[in-house]
Amino acid sequence: MLSSNLTVGENGHLFFRGHDTVALAAEYGTPLYLLDEVRIRENMRMYRRAFQESFGPGSAPLYASKANCFKRIYEIAREEGMGIDVVSSGEIYTAMQAGFPLENAWFHSNNKTDWDIAFAMDQGVGHFVVDNREELDAIARIAGEKGKTQKILLRLTPGIDPHTYEAVATGKVDSKFGTAIETGQAKEMVAYTLSLPTIELEGFHCHVGSQVFGEDVYERTSDIMLEFIRECRDRFHVPLPVLDLGGGYGVRYVDRDGEVDIPAAISRVARHMQQACARLDMAMPQVHMEPGRSIVADAGLTLYTVGTVKKITGYKNYVSVDGGMTDNPRYALYGSAYTVLLADRPEAKPDLRCDVVGRCCESGDIVQPDVDLPEPRRGEILAVCTTGAYNYSMASNYNRLPRPATVMLTEDRAYVAVRRESLEDLVRNDI
Ligand code: LLP
Repeated sequence: MLSSNLTVGENGHLFFRGHDTVALAAEYGTPLYLLDEVRIRENMRMYRRAFQESFGPGSAPLYASKANCFKRIYEIAREEGMGIDVVSSGEIYTAMQAGFPLENAWFHSNNKTDWDIAFAMDQGVGHFVVDNREELDAIARIAGEKGKTQKILLRLTPGIDPHTYEAVATGKVDSKFGTAIETGQAKEMVAYTLSLPTIELEGFHCHVGSQVFGEDVYERTSDIMLEFIRECRDRFHVPLPVLDLGGGYGVRYVDRDGEVDIPAAISRVARHMQQACARLDMAMPQVHMEPGRSIVADAGLTLYTVGTVKKITGYKNYVSVDGGMTDNPRYALYGSAYTVLLADRPEAKPDLRCDVVGRCCESGDIVQPDVDLPEPRRGEILAVCTTGAYNYSMASNYNRLPRPATVMLTEDRAYVAVRRESLEDLVRNDI
């Protein structure tokens, strides 16, 4: 099985964190998101421990809420001592409603409105990650109006392409995010930031990409960032103690994907950075990273009910399910690979090659093409694995389909954390 929380029960059904998925589908209905709370906590603890052991005090992982955002997940993050990365007033509000201590939140996004900035400051968001000059000016002005000093990180683009592992001269420098080091604009931003009395510059942030496997991506990124910090120290005589390396490591969606030993990878990055700091004669910064996917992806499983099996003789076969791109747009958007299992009979011999498709009026509504399954019957349950990240958080109401419920699983309990949208919910904002 792809992940250790997937097993086959004595009745032959697919089990997830010890629960019969076919029984869960019957009890809660489909489509249904399942989230393994035990795995989320394990992943958070794994990152926290690795940071403590490798980087020491002051360094910490922050959960990137964009991967999956609802109240309960912030309660879990709080209980596990994780900070959070938030990117909108909506995420901030959700965290607030869950009682998350917002001084431990880092507010990203490349275009915070004045309203967002004022809202975040009023709620006591601890740190802003500033993308550009206009935003910096707005934050400085609004902090002044409120009689506050706002702690910030500046988001910089180090010019790394995580998928070729190369520091590229152009490429990622032209990203819509952050301020480029290579063009000299980052240094100008630092000088300007240090002139603003309502801003406290703590350090820098960078993010090179998501689903990162490349062994040396963070090493190369940190080389560029550390050198920049050292140049700033020499030129501006300020410590700038924080370096945030952005999103976390990649996860396994299908058997052929690699698997990252995250604590070992973090320890390699830390050793590499310690050596670089010694070489550059500078203090080791406090390090942050913002994993989203690798905290929640393998804690997720989506259940669907099979509707039709359509065989177009001589061409191809389709298995249609009662969800699709509305609850998981990732194949439609990125061509992402997923593992699909027949939850009623996961060990039966696959005898049908098919595209698993959704119910939207759109031929691109494909959950996964070219899947080999035991031919499913109408009413059987399909499970799509590793859907904990960027599924619910990217779900839509296209075709006025209600979003599924999220049911959380512990060893001995299943409970609804997000209820299924009703038809009434769909017209709630219609005047
Ligand atoms: N920090 C920043 C600034 C980010 O932009 C992201 C992801 C993360 C952290 C979290 O990265 P992770 O640990 O999850 O790789 N919707 C796409 C993923 C977009 C990721 C955007 N930023 C997907 O479904 O694959």
